Amino acid sequence: MDFIPKDIQAYAEKYTSDEPESLSSLNRETYVNHLYPRMLSGHLQGRLLAILSSLVKPEKILEIGTFTGYSALCMAEGLLERGILHTIELNEENETTIRKYFNNSVYRDKIKLHFGNALDIIPTLEGMFDLVFLDADKENYVNYFELIISKVNSGGVILADNVLWNGKVTKAKETDKETMGIRAFNEIVKNDSRVENVLLTVRDGLMLILKK
Ligand SMILES: C[S@@+](CC[C@H](N)C(=O)[O-])C[C@H]1O[C@@H](n2cnc3c(N)ncnc32)[C@H](O)[C@@H]1O
Repeated sequence: MDFIPKDIQAYAEKYTSDEPESLSSLNRETYVNHLYPRMLSGHLQGRLLAILSSLVKPEKILEIGTFTGYSALCMAEGLLERGILHTIELNEENETTIRKYFNNSVYRDKIKLHFGNALDIIPTLEGMFDLVFLDADKENYVNYFELIISKVNSGGVILADNVLWNGKVTKAKETDKETMGIRAFNEIVKNDSRVENVLLTVRDGLMLILKK
């Protein structure tokens, strides 16, 4: 579902900072070579991720759900000089595209790519994070939140994508596991006294969460 009329979306993109050429190239290549290319964050949300990351000035970023690497490269723009971004992807079919764009990036030495199930990998990651982008399997959003909340520094930020799930979250008859997973996540975040949050109606819904 497109929540925003096409002409308004085009206008918003026109008056948003340009997408860097390397990311336009990755965007195009993802649409040509990968299934479900709409999973990629894209120009407007990508610039939002880059600006939010620059505001947070993270030393450590965790991304759950790399896909072809677009959002990781956006968030890497805000990393501190000594910073590192961990990103986790289940599907090894994405590896060639991810490695091509990470290796050609100025952030190549600051990105650590993990392949496997994020539910298994997150507990093995040491230390605390300043920024987390949750963008993998929707039925596990609550499990991811529970795994990461104690690993986020006070003042740190969690972003969760697709929290409107095509608008299905608002329709009681929709009871598939992804819709139920997102609804449960939104409920838990709203009622967790450790965080403040705003559900931004950007693209498919982006939950912005501040750890107190
Ligand atoms: C929406 S896409 C990520 C898009 C990417 N963050 C971006 O904005 O360009 C979700 C990705 O999560 C991956 N994924 C799904 N379940 C996963 C899991 N349990 N562990 C790690 N990755 C998973 C999928 O293979 C898919 O590539």
